[in-house]
Parts: sequence; C-alpha cells; structure tokens
Amino acid sequence: DIDLIQTTDENHGEIFPNLPTGKGWMSEHLVQYQGFWLSPKGLNNLMWIQHHFKPRPSDIFLASFPKTGTTWLKALVFATVNRTRYGFSDHPLLTANPHDCFPFLDAYLHENDPSFLELDASPTPRLLSTHLPYALLPDSMIVNRSSSCRFVYIYRDPKDVLVSKWNFLSKLRPKELPPFSLEEAFELFCQGISHYGPYWDQVLGYWKASSEFPENILFLKYEDLKEQPLAVVKRLGEFLGYPFSLEEENKGVVEDIVKLCSFENLSNLEVNRKSVHKFSRDSLVDNRHFFRKGIVGDWKNCLTDEMIKRLNQITSDKLFGPGLLF
Ligand code: A3P
Repeated sequence: DIDLIQTTDENHGEIFPNLPTGKGWMSEHLVQYQGFWLSPKGLNNLMWIQHHFKPRPSDIFLASFPKTGTTWLKALVFATVNRTRYGFSDHPLLTANPHDCFPFLDAYLHENDPSFLELDASPTPRLLSTHLPYALLPDSMIVNRSSSCRFVYIYRDPKDVLVSKWNFLSKLRPKELPPFSLEEAFELFCQGISHYGPYWDQVLGYWKASSEFPENILFLKYEDLKEQPLAVVKRLGEFLGYPFSLEEENKGVVEDIVKLCSFENLSNLEVNRKSVHKFSRDSLVDNRHFFRKGIVGDWKNCLTDEMIKRLNQITSDKLFGPGLLF
C-alpha cells in the first residue's frame, strides 16, 4: 500500500518532498509524517499550528483519537467549566452541537480568516481540541515543569474505535466511491494507517506524558466514563481547576451535567438530529453522525474471532508494558 510521492503543497513540498503514503479511508491518501499518518490537509493544519499557534497558560486542550468519545468529552468539559454561566434549562448544549462549543484547534486555519482572530479573542480559558499525537504538537504546547495549560486525553478499546470509525466514515463516504469494507478498514487500522494513527502509538504518547506530568495531562478511558460518569466528572472538575463544592454536589450539579451530556439527551436534541457541523469550508458533517450507539462492546456484533484475536494481540504487545490493557 505504501509508495512514495511528492507532496504537492507549494509551501511544504520542499520540507516534505518524499513522504510515504498509504491508502486513505475516504478518497484521499494519507501521508506518514514522523511515524504518524495524516491526511495531506491534516499535515498542512499541523504546519499551521506549528507556525502560528500561541498557547496561553490557561488553555484547556482536549486531545483524542477520532471516535474515542471526543464529542461526549467536549460536552462534559464545556458544561463543567461553564457551569456558573449557564442554567441547565437554557444551556448552549441544548441548541448547539458540542463541536460548535468546543472547536478543533486546526479549524482556525488561515491567518487572514476571521476565525483566526476569533481564536485570539476567545475568552479565558480557551477550550481547544486536537486529534494530533503528542509527539507532533509544537514545542510551545509540550508540557514541562513550568507549564500550566492542561490536557484531557480520552482513549477507548481499539475494537470499538475501529467499528465506530468504519461506521462513521462509511456514512460520510461520497456515493460515487465503491463501498469500503470492514475487512479493508480492519487491515489498515491494524497496520496503523488511519488518520492520526497508529492508534496505539497515539495512546502511548499521551500516556507517557501524563505519567510524567499528571497535573497537566488527565488520562481518561471511555469505558470508565460509561461506568462511573459521576466520579469521572468530579475528577475532571478538580483537574481543570473547577472543583465541585459540597454545596454543588448536594444540589446535584454533577448529576445535572452528566444528564445534560448523556448520549440519550444529546442525540435526541433537534440540533443533533437535524443540523450540520461545519469543520471547515469544505468539510460538513451531519451532527447525527456523531451519535451512533454510544455503548461499550459493539465490536462483539461486528468483528470476527480472527479480527478480535489480532486486535487484542496488537493491544497487548503495544500497551501491556505500561499497564494499559483493556
Ligand atoms: P459509537 O460509534 O461506538 O456509537 P467521537 O466523538 O470521538 O467522534 O466518538 C464518537 C463515538 O462516541 C460514537 O461511538 C458515538 O456514538 C459516541 N458518543 C457520542 N456522544 C456520546 C455520549 N454523550 N455518550 C456516550 N457516547 C457518545
């Protein structure tokens, strides 16, 4: 699958003349940059972030591999940080998709685009998300002893990530393209060839950084959030510097946040059933596609025994050492 191409982008062609390429999950190919697979547009976005983004000490970053629970965690962080600003009956999350409230960092692409100015003028703390692996972040975002910005990272059983991603991209895939089989998605995923992959390497990068700087990087697991949402949200509040007071706990504020952001609630809202999210000028996604089943273990209904065995093997080979087994 891998061959060599000349990147065509006029600005970056000189810096990246011969990156390996791999088959993309949609119509585009992926390029391998410093061990990770990005779309050519993703690589441009990375260069933009590397050159233009100036983090602030108060920034809160949500980092994730696509389909690990980004939308849910965006809602939870937004609701937690802004809980004194909004009431639960007229909350912004009732009429806007979580991605509208908590933008992707690379959505602010062009310096002359008004959205770039918006980024600069955003109120504190800025909530920004990224799918970039830790190793590709600009030096200015890398945590060190004097950093005060915070990252929340979410990961999930890779078997569910694969199933979720395949379903998601099958819905977005242009009708004129031939169908994309689960077998093909599985093979690419196992080889690490998927946007921001290899998945396991991305998890490991944030895991290592969070073990070194636990006060700056909170490492969360989708399955734990499903099982103990109240405990995780309390921990999230504390970590972000917005701890829940006893009075708030007694008033049921944590429960209110969990309920507001639940799959049942969000997926049934009109905005999430009928509206569209605009990631960029040419990337529109129906909000309903961000909400599929929202359960743990749907892989049992989709993957063959052989697929399960191979994915479990890769996971245990790559993540067993750090004690991250699922
Ligand atoms: P499934 O496809 O397994 O249902 P991301 O937000 O990173 O793109 O991840 C999408 C996955 O999170 C989808 O998983 C989606 O259904 C699930 N999800 C979205 N909102 C959720 C919520 N509020 N609670 C639990 N899971 C949610």
